[in-house]
Amino acid sequence: MSESTPSRVGRDAIEHASTDELQALQLQRMQWTVQHAYDNVPHYKRAFDSQGVHPSDLKQLSDIAKFPLTTKKDLRDNYPFDMFAVPREQASRIHASSGTTGKPTVVGYTDNDISKWADLVARSIWAAGGRPGDVVHVAYGYGLFTGGLGAHYGAERLGCSVVPMSGGQTEKQVQLIHDFGARVIMVTPSYFCNILEEMERQGLEPKQSPLEVGIFGAEPWTGLLRSDIEQRAAMDAVDIYGLSEVMGPGVAMECVESKDGPVVWEDHFYPEIIDPSTGEPVADGEEGELVFTSLTNEAMPMIRYRTRDLTRLLPPTSRSMRRIDKITGRSDDMLIVRGVNLFPTQIEEVVLKIPELAAQYQLVLTRSGNLDELEVVTEVRPEFDHLSRAEREKVGQRLTQTIKNYIGVSAYCSVHTAGLVERTLTGKARRVVDKRQR
Ligand code: DLL
Repeated sequence: MSESTPSRVGRDAIEHASTDELQALQLQRMQWTVQHAYDNVPHYKRAFDSQGVHPSDLKQLSDIAKFPLTTKKDLRDNYPFDMFAVPREQASRIHASSGTTGKPTVVGYTDNDISKWADLVARSIWAAGGRPGDVVHVAYGYGLFTGGLGAHYGAERLGCSVVPMSGGQTEKQVQLIHDFGARVIMVTPSYFCNILEEMERQGLEPKQSPLEVGIFGAEPWTGLLRSDIEQRAAMDAVDIYGLSEVMGPGVAMECVESKDGPVVWEDHFYPEIIDPSTGEPVADGEEGELVFTSLTNEAMPMIRYRTRDLTRLLPPTSRSMRRIDKITGRSDDMLIVRGVNLFPTQIEEVVLKIPELAAQYQLVLTRSGNLDELEVVTEVRPEFDHLSRAEREKVGQRLTQTIKNYIGVSAYCSVHTAGLVERTLTGKARRVVDKRQR
């Protein structure tokens, strides 16, 4: 089901198709997707049957609302590979993102899925202003996270020279951007601010850097940060959106000529907005939770996946597909810390692995310069109240290490005497205190 590589002019014809043409393609692909899911994924067969809906009921696009929503819990319950619609051997790539507990959310891709993903990231880089022959510096993390490899394959597909730098080693990032003449950078906006600071620290003027285009995503960022970056570094800053469950980066991309919110690549993903409390669809323009149905995924068709991201659908402008507004928040408690997704329950699991610690904890998020800082505030169980301050510090270091090992996030862990973590009168613990100002 994969699209061809970008044409000579760098854009796919479908980006400028009429609404009728686009919707005809979407319907055909959606019908294929629901049938493929029903026939090959027992979870979908059960879910469709229990809702009394059959693939043959999908006669027009709006019929998708009759089908059940899919959640992260469904992915967890089918861990690791039971959401796959193809034999595991046909999945040539497996990625994973944070689940709410120790089990990550697994995503699989066939060769065609990987190729389609590369096409869409290539299309996204083009929309951002990148061109074949550019040096593209990728500072999204490589690994299970979809950011690094997703960006990488797309930049290669467009015909760019890719520098697979990954995250970290900020001094080296700056050196390579300058020495290799990177015109495009793909990175989280918060880490890019660090790179800018490092340039200044090294006495380099960001405006003189070779960078002309920044493709920023994986975490929420504001229009204010866009203006700040564009002024400081004399470059274009554009927003890329995506999530691993549906594909990865490149589900939607903002066009550099309009900078008015990411365009959903609707020929591959069908968006809906629902009321998060009732699950009912709302009209375009109204805010709610973004839901996606994949239209071409082979290994893991996604039927009405609840992203938990709150936003609204906006009418087409630079392309003939709808856009999403800035993500204003989430309808669950997932946090994004330095681009890493994190659920408070994941921290709870780790806290409970340390015998000295009580099940009371609080996550305090602050901003140090441009980067998020996470403090995990904990307390000892009453039977360990005799521990000295130094002994408690050691317990804290163990917790820091365990969080790093299991979740991949750096945290400072403070361990207090019993009873010191904030309690509430309502009985609902306040697990997260987010003091960050984006
Ligand atoms: O963050 C994929 C990605 C990588 C997107 C690189 C863009 C660039 P996940 O780790 O599964 O995948 O996290 C997905 O991150 O549901 C949003 O909450 C958030 N997110 C991603 N892009 C944006 C963005 C990748 N541009 C989750 N603005 C999503 C706001 C974003 N939030």
